[in-house]
Amino acid sequence: MLNFNYRNPTHVVFGKDRIAELDQLVPANAKVLITYGGGSVVRFGTLDKVKSALGNRTVIEFGGIEANPKYDTLMQAVEVARSEKIDFLLAVGGGSVMDGTKFIALATQFDGDTTSLLHHGFAPVPVEEDKVIPLGVIATLPATGSEMNAFAVVSYQGGKFPVNHPNVYPTFAMLDPELTFSLPKIQVANGVVDAFVHVLEQYATYPVDARVQDRTAEGIMRTLIEIGPITVEEPTNYEARANLMWSATSALNGMIGAGVPFDWTTHMIGHELTAIFNIDHAQTLAVVLPSVWRVLKQQKHAKLLQYAERVWDITEGDEDSRIEQAIVKTEAFFQQVGLKTRLRDHDVELSQIDSVVNALEAHGMTALSETGKVDLAMSRKILEMSY
Ligand code: NZQ
Ligand code: ZN
Repeated sequence: MLNFNYRNPTHVVFGKDRIAELDQLVPANAKVLITYGGGSVVRFGTLDKVKSALGNRTVIEFGGIEANPKYDTLMQAVEVARSEKIDFLLAVGGGSVMDGTKFIALATQFDGDTTSLLHHGFAPVPVEEDKVIPLGVIATLPATGSEMNAFAVVSYQGGKFPVNHPNVYPTFAMLDPELTFSLPKIQVANGVVDAFVHVLEQYATYPVDARVQDRTAEGIMRTLIEIGPITVEEPTNYEARANLMWSATSALNGMIGAGVPFDWTTHMIGHELTAIFNIDHAQTLAVVLPSVWRVLKQQKHAKLLQYAERVWDITEGDEDSRIEQAIVKTEAFFQQVGLKTRLRDHDVELSQIDSVVNALEAHGMTALSETGKVDLAMSRKILEMSY
């Protein structure tokens, strides 16, 4: 096992009918900015419940944070937070709203050029700890894990930029599966696949004898395989949705990633596909992941074999054929929940792969994967194989 530090300060408040408890979770004298997306929380009544739970606190609202939140939109919220002297942020929505709110928390009291916060890659952004506004989240879409991690992804000038800082872990994450019943089927399918791929980006690398992390990862994947298709078809099946919600959070809250190598190639290539073609985040992953594995099956050989056996019960055939069977089963699972697994199914022309490779180069994504050996030529091969 590799050395690691693990700290996750988020207080998880899981289960139905808990919005009234916001009164104990948000500081009594806080001046609160509630952030939300395109209006689902207004339409389905969540925002009203949240406001009533906040009682006499001063509350200001900022709606309109779009999917793949844009820097310019978030800066409008930053202006509000600055002028209103906001001291607590409450995100009500999916990954885009939660991520956007983390950026607002970092940018509001930042003295320098706020676009510079987008250019630190996976390193923490240099914001002084006491200048980060505390935030809480009410998650309405189980997918990204943003509710219990310190990462955000912000869209700016045709790119998607990771941002992180230890003080943007939400102080609390309210996870009520019933708040997700209103999701369109496709968003639930996106959530299943995003969570599944988060597990794999921290699992399908090379073995380091991290048995707890591996078996937890395998347990999350088997859970998603069991309940994924059910929760897509039966939106009000509470138990299935509760299991999706906790799987998605557990997939990216740092637990399974502690002490193991990670990859993130699929995510980095996927982010360019979202930025260029506006394909939903999880749908890019469903397209890219199988080809990443086919191109890197040598370097991932041992873990892919373990995945085949422990996640899909594949024990017949020689090693290469077991790995290929596992890749085919993975693609079939993505399709079963409702996602496409080919780039051509998203109205992309083969010739447009050039623009994706150029974007990877422009964003410094030239040495991807757990070994750093995925250069632009290999990314091109992955994209061509995904077509
Ligand atoms: O905007 P509203 O009207 O709320 O509608 C949203 C949006 O259209 C809708 N929705 C959310 N909750 C709903 C609902 N509709 C009905 N009922 C509900 N309960 O769903 C749509 C998609 O929402 P979005 O927040 O964009 O989806 P998701 O949660 O998948 O977030 C995607 C974003 O997260 C980033 C992605 O890059 C992308 O920008 N990621 C963040 C990560 C992190 N912080 O760790 C890791 C991920 O890998 C990912 O990159
Ligand atoms: Zn993701």
